[in-house]
Amino acid sequence: MTRLSVNINKVALIRNARGGNLPDLVKVAQDCESFGAQGITIHPRPDERHIRYSDVPALKAIVKTELNIEGNPTEDFMELVLRNRPHQCTLVPDSPDALTSDQGWDTVGQKAFLTDIISTLRGAGIRVSVFVDPVEHLVEGAKAVGADCIEFYTGHFARLFPDDPRLAVEPHARCARLANGIGLEINAGHDLNLDNLRYYKTQVEGLKEVSIGHALISDALYFGLQNTIRMYLNCLI
Ligand code: PXP
Repeated sequence: MTRLSVNINKVALIRNARGGNLPDLVKVAQDCESFGAQGITIHPRPDERHIRYSDVPALKAIVKTELNIEGNPTEDFMELVLRNRPHQCTLVPDSPDALTSDQGWDTVGQKAFLTDIISTLRGAGIRVSVFVDPVEHLVEGAKAVGADCIEFYTGHFARLFPDDPRLAVEPHARCARLANGIGLEINAGHDLNLDNLRYYKTQVEGLKEVSIGHALISDALYFGLQNTIRMYLNCLI
């Protein structure tokens, strides 16, 4: 089974546009779960342009499935994660001014840093996922730094998919076999959508979780949140 974790950053972006509490993130997270999502992902960034640090305790209190907090493990981020203890923390090497994440970690070059961060998080009982590009030595590097899990960056896959799906997915399928063989769980995310998700799922053996925000929330404008979640879940059967 592949879990669907809904990234609700875009919902927070709409809320922040007016300064009030509409839409209400807590209600949206609860509704996503009641519509069948198996997780809620948030990615607080240093400028708090969507999720705010102050949103996290209320979300931690109500999420019944899996709360996944993503981000770059700065001092502030680590403090937030350790204080709120989500089920999973996904480490992402995004710069403070990044529009969105666009690459995974250099798990070999950053070995000492990641080993230290991961051991702190795991020591607090938090499962740790490391965002990586589908490249063999980086997957092996994620295992070496003590991650429980990797999240494949699927941005390049999504860009190439319309022209050549097989070429687009090949590194993911290959690196998934490697990850399965060395005992790393596999998540994936970025630019996954209703066109490419089913194919990705069928080709990437052992895919445990996808986290999807931008396309899913955009689709919800047309189909409604409940229908949209059902449609994404259907791609994961
Ligand atoms: N995974 C990571 C690490 C991300 O940074 C993001 C975007 O915040 C996603 C998944 C979800 O990407 P998208 O919004 O394109 O579905």
